[in-house]
Amino acid sequence: MDAATVAGYFKDKSILITGSTGFLGKIFVEKILRIQPDVKKIFLLVRAADTSSAEQRVLNEVIGNELFGPLRENYGSNFYSFMKEKISPLAGDIINENLGLESLEILKLSKEIDIIVNGAATTNFYERYDVSLASNVLGAKYVCKFAKKCANLKMFLHISTAFVSGEQEGLLLEKVFQIGETLKEGCHLDIAAELQLVESVKAELTHSTNARQFGWPNTYVFTKAMGEMLVGHFGRELPVVIIRPSIVSSIYHDPLPGWIEGTRTIDSIISAYAKQTIPHFIGAGHVILDVIPGDMVVNAMLVAMAVHWSERGQVIIHVTSSQQNPLSTSTMLDLMYRYFTANPQTMGKNGKVVKTKRLNITNKTGFRAYMFLKYKLPLEVLHLVNPLLGGYFSQYYNKSIRSYRYFVLLAKLYMPYAFFNACFNGTNLARLQTATTQDQSKEACVLNFDPKSIDWEYYLYNSHIPGVMKYAHKKK
Ligand SMILES: NC(=O)c1ccc[n+]([C@@H]2O[C@H](COP(=O)([O-])OP(=O)(O)OC[C@H]3O[C@@H](n4cnc5c(N)ncnc54)[C@H](OP(=O)(O)O)[C@@H]3O)[C@@H](O)[C@H]2O)c1
Repeated sequence: MDAATVAGYFKDKSILITGSTGFLGKIFVEKILRIQPDVKKIFLLVRAADTSSAEQRVLNEVIGNELFGPLRENYGSNFYSFMKEKISPLAGDIINENLGLESLEILKLSKEIDIIVNGAATTNFYERYDVSLASNVLGAKYVCKFAKKCANLKMFLHISTAFVSGEQEGLLLEKVFQIGETLKEGCHLDIAAELQLVESVKAELTHSTNARQFGWPNTYVFTKAMGEMLVGHFGRELPVVIIRPSIVSSIYHDPLPGWIEGTRTIDSIISAYAKQTIPHFIGAGHVILDVIPGDMVVNAMLVAMAVHWSERGQVIIHVTSSQQNPLSTSTMLDLMYRYFTANPQTMGKNGKVVKTKRLNITNKTGFRAYMFLKYKLPLEVLHLVNPLLGGYFSQYYNKSIRSYRYFVLLAKLYMPYAFFNACFNGTNLARLQTATTQDQSKEACVLNFDPKSIDWEYYLYNSHIPGVMKYAHKKK
């Protein structure tokens, strides 16, 4: 299968996409429009009060994004008319039955839609349990139920995460979750009971509820795992592909190397390190960071849809790099040091550039001891004596306590990856590669998703780290 054949699958097809205002969603919409301008219609379901606000969001946040620059250049003055012809924004919310759409709209869509891509999710690791449950679990169920109404459906692609594996160790397989399965032996997960529970105690819920009890480290991965279970259950008779990317990083190659949106996990560390405010952190040099660039995730999605087109059943695909081309924490740290030494980002009070220091990493106990001695203890002493000094140090105290809390939060966010001791098996991703390796054409790299082709040093130094500095902090 070559790139043109893959693109051919989307010709004259109507696609419903959720999550298009997000990071991966934008890359997906842009790529489809570029590789297959003869796609029939792309319906973008976005959270908005009405159609006109949905249109405004798509205009500002999706097609107005710099990512669409090459397409804008290509179409020139016809750019907006092309977008209007192809894209149809819908105001909806996946947490509602029928995705919050009118019944007539649902009826019309169910006759028209060929492909559904469900990328919408609450991606905050420590979001309130009821909020994550609504989008990541109920939402997955409602999108799936809508998929079952679509008479011509050829593909339902659901985006999950590789870290539904929790903190298991060793080689992690592309295995389907059975409904009610947990990561703790002797434990059963009753999803209906979880949903009922949050209904009754919504207001009192905190982020940590229940994830640990069933063996997952945070609410995000726990609810993503439950979402997978419901897709498996309600989508039994559908052609379903569940892709599980690991840590998605900036675009590797196409269309804008280094483009990224938002800072999560490793990018939060890069941002904090750039300011030289983070001298000590958790981690171990030998630990493999499973990172995969965003364009490779989208390319794998496109090829997976073509390869598993109309195939009833469920396929799980790890879109990951740890098995094929591992990136160690020490390589990452070394590149950060080299990049910020050559491109310092911070000025001291004296107007001089702050010299970049290497980031020391230690185990959890070492980090806790460091944080206690360096921050917590002095701050507690200051808190006690400050009133005696007429509040002279109040400003300093407030600033320092904020930094302290920020580092603790950063460590908490990063914890599931810092000591991750497993490797994602890439059998199904390799199968997709086998289906496409015949393609030696120049266009083939437009759909490249081979983790082995990643030159980590070049990419991190020349694209990803500068990309985090340039794009990641931009507000939507
Ligand atoms: N980025 C990663 O590192 C990574 C790694 C593995 C897996 N994933 C998965 O990939 C998918 C996309 O991630 P991302 O990084 O692009 O996320 P993102 O930037 O946080 O975007 C999430 C998208 O979902 C939408 N959304 C959330 N709740 C919704 C709801 N109830 N109804 C309709 N839309 C809703 C958001 O809309 P608003 O704009 O209205 O908020 C946004 O468009 C997610 O399923 C995520 O779990 C991401």
